[in-house]
Amino acid sequence: MTSTPAWPAIRGIAYGGDYTPEQWPRETWLEDVALMREAGVNLVSVGIFSWALLETSEGVFDFGWLDDLLDLLHENGVAVDLGTPTASPPAWFFADHPGARVITRNGTVMGFGSRGMASHSSPAYREAVVRIATALAERYASHPAVVLWHVHNEYGVPVGEDYSEQSVRAFREWLREKYGSLEALNAGWGTTFWGQSYGEWDHIGAPAVAPSVVNPSQRLDFARFTDHQLRACFIAERDAIRAHAPQPITTNFMANQSWTTDMWAWAREVDIVSDDHYLWAADPEGEIGLSIAADLSRSVGGGTPWILMEHSTSAVNWQPRNIAKRPGEMARNSLTHLARGADAILFFQWRASRHGAEKFHSAMIPHAGTSSRVWREVVELGATLDRLEEVRGSRVVADVAILWDFESFWAQDLEWRPSVDVSHAERIRAYYERLWRDGITVDFALPGHDLSGYTLVVAPAQYMLSAADGANLARYVAGGGTLVVSFFSGIVDEFDAVHPGGFGAPLADALGIRVEEFLPLREGSTGSLTLTAGGALVADAWQEDLVLEGADVVAAYVDGPAAGGAAITRHRHGDGTGWYISTRLDAGGLAEVMAQVYRDAGVTPSGLPEGLEVVRRSGADADYLVAVNHRDDAVQLSAHGIELISGSEATGDLTIAAGAVAVLRTAHGARLEVVPDRR
Ligand code: GAL
Repeated sequence: MTSTPAWPAIRGIAYGGDYTPEQWPRETWLEDVALMREAGVNLVSVGIFSWALLETSEGVFDFGWLDDLLDLLHENGVAVDLGTPTASPPAWFFADHPGARVITRNGTVMGFGSRGMASHSSPAYREAVVRIATALAERYASHPAVVLWHVHNEYGVPVGEDYSEQSVRAFREWLREKYGSLEALNAGWGTTFWGQSYGEWDHIGAPAVAPSVVNPSQRLDFARFTDHQLRACFIAERDAIRAHAPQPITTNFMANQSWTTDMWAWAREVDIVSDDHYLWAADPEGEIGLSIAADLSRSVGGGTPWILMEHSTSAVNWQPRNIAKRPGEMARNSLTHLARGADAILFFQWRASRHGAEKFHSAMIPHAGTSSRVWREVVELGATLDRLEEVRGSRVVADVAILWDFESFWAQDLEWRPSVDVSHAERIRAYYERLWRDGITVDFALPGHDLSGYTLVVAPAQYMLSAADGANLARYVAGGGTLVVSFFSGIVDEFDAVHPGGFGAPLADALGIRVEEFLPLREGSTGSLTLTAGGALVADAWQEDLVLEGADVVAAYVDGPAAGGAAITRHRHGDGTGWYISTRLDAGGLAEVMAQVYRDAGVTPSGLPEGLEVVRRSGADADYLVAVNHRDDAVQLSAHGIELISGSEATGDLTIAAGAVAVLRTAHGARLEVVPDRR
C-alpha cells in the first residue's frame, strides 16, 4: 500500500470518460483517438463491461483486442483507467453456475441479459472475479497506458441485498462473528418481541418478505452484512490486482444517489475516492444535489482530491423524463465538481451507444456527431480544464459540518416509523440548501468523528446515535462548538432499540431538553411558531412535547398538538451552544433560525447574490475561487487576481456572465465581494 501512488500518473486535471470500443469497428477507434486529442481527453475508463470478450469460457482468455486498444491509446497520449468487468459476468458463467444469481427480498431470481445479476456471496462468483482481476493485473501491470484500476462498477447498484441460500449461509457466519453467541444475538435483536428467540444458528434467515414487518434489528444487520459482502468482493479484487500492479485502485461510488454502501467504510479501502453523479431532472435546482454529492465524495476521503468518474454531457436515459442540459450547463456541473475537490472530470460515456439499453443516454460524442452543440462544449471544456492545471491538488476547507451516517439512514428507512413525512434525505437537503444559499461550504462527517475543527455542526437526521457518539457531540459542544439538531435524532442505539432514558437521551447534555412524545401532524397541515424575541415562523409535518432541562426557549408552538410548548431551544453547555429544532420549518423559517445559529457559531454568510456559487480551493501559493453563476443575469464583483479560464487579470472588477464560471487565482484568504452600487 505504501508504494501505491496517491494519484494516477497523468498531467493536470484528468478529462475523459467511459470508453466502450468493443461496441465499434476498428476504423472508429482511429477516429476516436483523433477526436480525443482534439478534445484534450487524457484519461478513459475501459473494459468495465467486457468480461464476455476477455474470458470466453472459464480460464480461456482473449486479450488481443485489449492489447491493441491500450497500445493505440498510449500512442495517442491517452491514459487508461482499466476496469475489471465483474459487474457483468458472461452468459457461460451463469450457465456453469446457475445458483450464482441474486435473489431479491420477495424471492425473484434475477435473470440474464442485464448487469449486476451475480450473488456477491457466491463462492463461484468470488473465485471468478479474482481470476479475471488477476489475469488483467498480470497482463497490464506494466503497460504504460494504465495509470489507474477501476474495480467493478457501482457496487450495490442496481441490486445490493441478496436473499439466496449462499447469502443466508454467509449472513449466519457474519452474525456468529459479530455476536459470538446466540444469547448476545437474541439480546441485540430483542427477539423476545413477537416470540422470535433463536435456539440454533441455522434457524436464522435473511429478513425476507413476511406477513408483517420483519424485526428491524435483523434488517439493519442484513443491510450491514450486505455492505460488508459487497466490500469483501471489492477487497478480493483489489488485493488480486495489488499483488501484481503498482497503480492506484478505485471503485466508483454513487454519493447522494445510492445509500446501499457505507462510503465512509469504503473510502478506507480505496486508494482514491471516485464518484458518479447524475442530476435528478425533476429537481429544478439539481445543482444543489450535485454539490451535496461532491462534498460527500470529498469528505469521505478526508478532503483529498477525488475523481468524478461519471457524469453526463446532457440527458440520461433512466429517469421518467430525461431533461437535456442547456448550453453551458454541462460546464457549470463539471466545474462545480472541480470546485468541490474533484481533480478528474470524466463522463459516461465517450461515444453514444447505437445498441442496447443506454442508446438514448447522452455522450461526449452524441449520435449527432461532432457537428453538435454537445461536442463543441466538450472540446471547450477540455480547453478550460487545460487552463486549470495549477488548481490540481489544492484543498477545499470548510468550517461547518453536516452529519451523514449511512447506518442511521438504513435504520430510519425501515417500516413503521412515526410518520412517512420524516426523511433523512429531505432534512439534509433542507439544511444543506440553507448553507448553500448562504455561500457556506460544508464537509460531511460522522457523529463519532473529531469535530473540533468545525465551528458549527448540523445534525439534520441522526435517528440512530450510540451513547458514545452522543457523548462525542456533547464534548464537541462543551469545547466551544455550536451544534444544531433537528427532530427525530438520538432516538435509537446501534440495534435500533430505543435508548433507555427515552427519545434523544444521548443528546440531553448537549441540548438541555428531553423529548417526551412525538406529535406528527396530518398530511398537509401546518402550524405556527412564535419567536421569544418577536416574530412568527411556519412549520409542518412534526411537533413534539419537549421537556426543558436547562435549555432556553427560542420559539414556542402557537397551535397544533404541542400548542404552548417549546418548539426551538438553545442551551449553553460548557463553552458552546446546543440548538434543537423540533419541527420541520419552512425555508423562510429555517433561514431566520440559522441566521441566529450563525451568530453563535461565528459563521459569516458570503453576502454574494443568491445563485452565485463560490467555493474556495486553497493551494500552497494561492487560493482558487471557483465562481459558478447559476443566475440568468451577470454579476459584477470586486476581485483581484488572475481569472484562469480567460487568462485575464482582475484588478478590482470581475464580471461573471449569466451561466458562466470563473476561476480566480487570488491571494490566500481574499474574498469576492459585491461591487457597491456606483450610480
Ligand atoms: C451509471 C453506470 C454507467 C451508466 C450510467 C448511465 O450509474 O455506472 O455504466 O449506466 O449510469 O447514467
